[in-house]
Amino acid sequence: IRLVVAIDGPSGSGKSSAARGVARRLGLAFLDTGAMYRAGAWLALDRGVDLADTEATARLVRAARLDIVTDPDAFAIAIADIDVTAAIREPRISAAVSRVATNLAVREDLIARQRAIIAGAERGIVAEGRDITTVVAPDADVRVLLVADADARVRRRHTELGQRVSAADVTDQVVRRDADDSTVANFTTAADGVTVIDSTALDLAGVIDRILALADA
Ligand code: CDP
Repeated sequence: IRLVVAIDGPSGSGKSSAARGVARRLGLAFLDTGAMYRAGAWLALDRGVDLADTEATARLVRAARLDIVTDPDAFAIAIADIDVTAAIREPRISAAVSRVATNLAVREDLIARQRAIIAGAERGIVAEGRDITTVVAPDADVRVLLVADADARVRRRHTELGQRVSAADVTDQVVRRDADDSTVANFTTAADGVTVIDSTALDLAGVIDRILALADA
């Protein structure tokens, strides 16, 4: 039996760690769709394409090869044959990515690629992002919206990024980016059939257990 688990949520909700953990426990593939938007942003910055030029940005992303390793223990992403797994986590990418993710032509291309990856996962996959439960895989077997209070999300992201980033930058990354992102994907209210899990007071293991329980049902 094949199992598809879709997890959406805002930044700092812990969806990446939860999705990875569920994939590991169930022996499924793992797809971080945000990494694909980040890779698109990385390429546009690398090639000096003006993100305001939506057509040029879309043309660049559409023509680029994307290679993704969907092993939850070895997730990796390369765009145009360049491994950007680490580079896409840089603050300059976090600051620019919403401009790429709100480009509808880019979204169309990346959503098609995400659907192909999900369809190609033999045993199944845990895919996480902003629009997986609603647009990319609305027919997934398990659909979860992972939420958490803004304070908790900012705190988590700050812990993750460490001393490199100021509190103000983290707040910008989490709060401002969510506001920008929500113009194209609604990840603040759950669609029909989507289970909301509030991780504000749950640790990672607790979130994973809740999702695994849904998978058994
Ligand atoms: O780091 P964080 O968890 O906040 O974000 P991410 O999952 O790495 O996604 C990075 C960016 O990609 C988001 O801020 C969105 O702009 C965009 N994104 C999207 O539009 N749709 C998705 N399914 C996933 C990510």
